[in-house]
Amino acid sequence: MFLKNAWYVAAWDTEVAAGRMLARTLLGEPVILYRTTDGAVVALEDRCCHRAAPLSLGTVVGDNVRCGYHGLTFAPDGSLIHIPTQTQVPPGAGVRAYPIIERWQFVWIWMGEPAKADPGLIPNWWWMDHPDWSVSRGDVFHIACNYELITDNLLDLAHVPFLHPGSIGTDYIIDFPIKTERLERSVKMTRLMTDVPQAPFHRRVKAYDTHVDRWTRVEVFAPAHVLVNSGNAPTGTGGLEGKANDVVNLQSPNEVTPETEGSSFLFYGHARNFHLGNETTTQRIRNEMLKIYREDIDMMEGQQRRMAREPDRALLAINQDAPVVAMRRVVRQLIEAERAR
Ligand code: FES
Ligand SMILES: [Fe+2]
Repeated sequence: MFLKNAWYVAAWDTEVAAGRMLARTLLGEPVILYRTTDGAVVALEDRCCHRAAPLSLGTVVGDNVRCGYHGLTFAPDGSLIHIPTQTQVPPGAGVRAYPIIERWQFVWIWMGEPAKADPGLIPNWWWMDHPDWSVSRGDVFHIACNYELITDNLLDLAHVPFLHPGSIGTDYIIDFPIKTERLERSVKMTRLMTDVPQAPFHRRVKAYDTHVDRWTRVEVFAPAHVLVNSGNAPTGTGGLEGKANDVVNLQSPNEVTPETEGSSFLFYGHARNFHLGNETTTQRIRNEMLKIYREDIDMMEGQQRRMAREPDRALLAINQDAPVVAMRRVVRQLIEAERAR
């Protein structure tokens, strides 16, 4: 059960190249990705229309793909253009091609009805491609859990002191209230913390002698585009209002793409507007974040294993689940509306 009429990140731009295929299952459908000789990204169904061989076992020949079984050849739009030993190609034959857009260092794919693929629905992650910001790219995480456990995790800041001590977890976090806002296609969670010690992670990135004001804002846009804005600034310098000049400030898009019902991909980057171009800072943020994400992944995969054993067993809801419950409702309603059409 996935929302089909939506953009999802299929890959980082650097994962897709000319002359070779990247095979990936997205929303339960096997897909191949490659670049044509002029650099455009192509996404085709990974299933030959002849005898259902995976096209990923074939070869990219120029701009086209040749099936590795009997040599049928497909153009970038998916149409069948050549059958060995045969001059006639049945009209209209081919494989499915998916709309693709490259933006913000990501390759976006539309798995639903192609006519509805509106580029304006791609979230605006402009910091990923802007000269005033430097980006620490994350890995491609392949995670053995349902995608909603990942959006739950990103929206749920109650876990931070317990799962991430020593980096972003600090005891005082839970003393500050969370504000939850439900918007039409998103849920926004804000936690503002005033006059607190710096978190160890922030300290290692840029240390202050003073206490700080600290912020975490998370917005999840349906189905699974997550923006985390986090940072701190010396207390009283206007950090919470976005007015401080001296800050640690990160804009972090997290893109969750379902692979199957029980597995997902996570693509993320951390963009900053301080220590610009500083490679030490870029690597430090990248490595610190890898460690934090791995803590989350171990926990989410553990949840998935327990849930898979007893899928119908009830879970206890507590007050701090409010953003998570609200977001699941947004996504459920969109999926139901899509299916009712
Ligand atoms: S299965 Fe692809 S050419 Fe026969
Ligand atoms: Fe976490």
